Amino acid sequence: MTAASRPQILVIADAAVLAQTAARRLIDRIRHGNRPAVCLTGGSSPLALYRLLAENSLRSEVPWTRVHWFMGDDRFVPESDPLSNMGAARRAFLDRVSVPPQNIHPIPTTATDPGDAAYRYENELKRFYGADRFDPSRPLFDIVLMGLGSDGHTASLFANSPALEEKQRWVVGVAKAGMEPFVPRVTLTFPALASTREMLFLVDSADKRQIVARVFAGEDLPAHRAYAQGDLIWLVVRAAAPEQ
Ligand code: 6PG
Repeated sequence: MTAASRPQILVIADAAVLAQTAARRLIDRIRHGNRPAVCLTGGSSPLALYRLLAENSLRSEVPWTRVHWFMGDDRFVPESDPLSNMGAARRAFLDRVSVPPQNIHPIPTTATDPGDAAYRYENELKRFYGADRFDPSRPLFDIVLMGLGSDGHTASLFANSPALEEKQRWVVGVAKAGMEPFVPRVTLTFPALASTREMLFLVDSADKRQIVARVFAGEDLPAHRAYAQGDLIWLVVRAAAPEQ
């Protein structure tokens, strides 16, 4: 983590409150912009948040016609596959609300291979951003959601992968996942994920306790390397939080 992104850890009572807290932060980040951009994450940790966004209590607070939805990483499978991160996000909320189809930006897993998908998604991000280099004063995303794997990976950035060192590319293909499901992946790189006003890690279960402790002890794990131009926030349920 760089000095620009000293993490703030917010310890949250339980998974339900964590989803509500994340929803509130997300809505606060996107409510006013002309064309706010959210980078979603995969896995199970964000699902309660996703469902909340489509519920009556919050749905009216999301400016659905203006927000653009991206994905930080995906498994190289069709969206109809249960392993697809974008498929899961659609089922949890995007299909339940009225979103202009052009506001949803899936990683194109219909490409020839993960490298080709990465190339195409990088171009799509650059088109949306309107430049092919990041300007730190003008982040690509308003909020980037992140999960924490039990091995310390985040997005599809796994330990010992060359993707961890990537400084030029915004998106790369990952031929071999470091953890199940062992399907090839496509992932945004650290510099692309960092181009955000807020990066929000979601740690919603007690079984992450050990890995959270290792990340915050400073071990060189992928999640420890994540940084943000804006705020770097970890929402951690009390049962997984490091000793105070
Ligand atoms: C993926 C993810 C990945 C995930 C973590 C946590 O595609 O697998 O984006 O980085 O966020 O593995 O997953 P859980 O939320 O399921 O624990």
